[in-house]
Amino acid sequence: VIDLRSDTVTRPSDAMRKVMYVAEVGDDVYNDDPTVTRLEHMTAELLDKAAAMFVPSGTQSNLCALLAHCNRGDEYIVGQHAHAYRYEAGGAAVLGGIQPQPLDFEADGSIDLAAVQDAIKPDDPHFVRTKLLCLENTRDGMVVPQDYMERAAKFASDRDLGVHLDGARLWNAAVWHQVEPAELVRPFDSVSVCLSKGMGAPIGSVLVGPNELIAEARWYRKMLGGAMRQAGVIAAAGIYAIENNRHRIIDDHHNARLLASLLNEIEGVEAAYDEAQTNMVWVEFQRNVDHLAERLSEENIKVTVRTLSGSDGDNSDPVLAGADIPSRGIARLVTHLDVCTDDIRTVAKAVAAGY
Ligand SMILES: Cc1ncc(COP(=O)(O)O)c(C=O)c1O
Repeated sequence: VIDLRSDTVTRPSDAMRKVMYVAEVGDDVYNDDPTVTRLEHMTAELLDKAAAMFVPSGTQSNLCALLAHCNRGDEYIVGQHAHAYRYEAGGAAVLGGIQPQPLDFEADGSIDLAAVQDAIKPDDPHFVRTKLLCLENTRDGMVVPQDYMERAAKFASDRDLGVHLDGARLWNAAVWHQVEPAELVRPFDSVSVCLSKGMGAPIGSVLVGPNELIAEARWYRKMLGGAMRQAGVIAAAGIYAIENNRHRIIDDHHNARLLASLLNEIEGVEAAYDEAQTNMVWVEFQRNVDHLAERLSEENIKVTVRTLSGSDGDNSDPVLAGADIPSRGIARLVTHLDVCTDDIRTVAKAVAAGY
């Protein structure tokens, strides 16, 4: 099966499973698990932050960060389509009484700092207290300009706001920039990184930041049920991923670029892959896609195609707006360590045949 729905679909390799099998473990709630401790130290060092905390998921990692930065009645400013706002079930508001202030992302994944300025609430009892700016890198598979990150973090700290990075795919940004990940996260107070996406571990994220913030986050991890016992079994997969899978992520970017160029050879298909893109290809299908995903699945290729209708797309073209073409579509195709270059060629051929 060639699964391009997400980079979260990877299966742990035999070598990864072996290190999980032999992992030295203890009860991590008693701070007794040497493998978890090793992963935490290793990640803190890699990202050049004082402390780290292992958590089961990126969602819990972001939530622990938000809870540690903000109190009830505080606010965080975040992208309208950011994972930490739109796709985390409203956890900050529901569980933390923290109000999100979503703002539109710019095309490059930044949030306009003038808009952030306007969104910061005055020091007046009518208003919620703005405490945190939350950014994301990569954003929809795109590397956010680092000079913006530096400016945004300075802007935030000049206004006494904390700054958190959802770096679920920070690893992709680091190989894209050809720098150590620590360089990209220097401007941020806290950073969440995921091990279960392009890195290929079955589970796990790590939140890094200053000692006091991580100590506070540990409190919330316990409250959320994320303090785990012999978690070294899964932390071992994370260590393996950092040691073995971090640098190979560049292959996923090459495969994504190849996929985009092969798809662009097919009439009626437009695949966007600009300079800053990493392992995601955004594809627009100009013709009917009603049965495309189904046809591809018959070839053991898994993709999610979203149908565009009415105001979703540009219907100014009379052909596209015509009744014969009820459903154009878009897809996000994601490359990862379980997809090789031959698979990419297979997918492009299958799309050409099935579309
Ligand atoms: C940018 C981003 N942040 C956070 C998460 C949450 O990670 P998890 O699925 O481990 O909760 C995801 C998941 O896909 C993500 O894409």
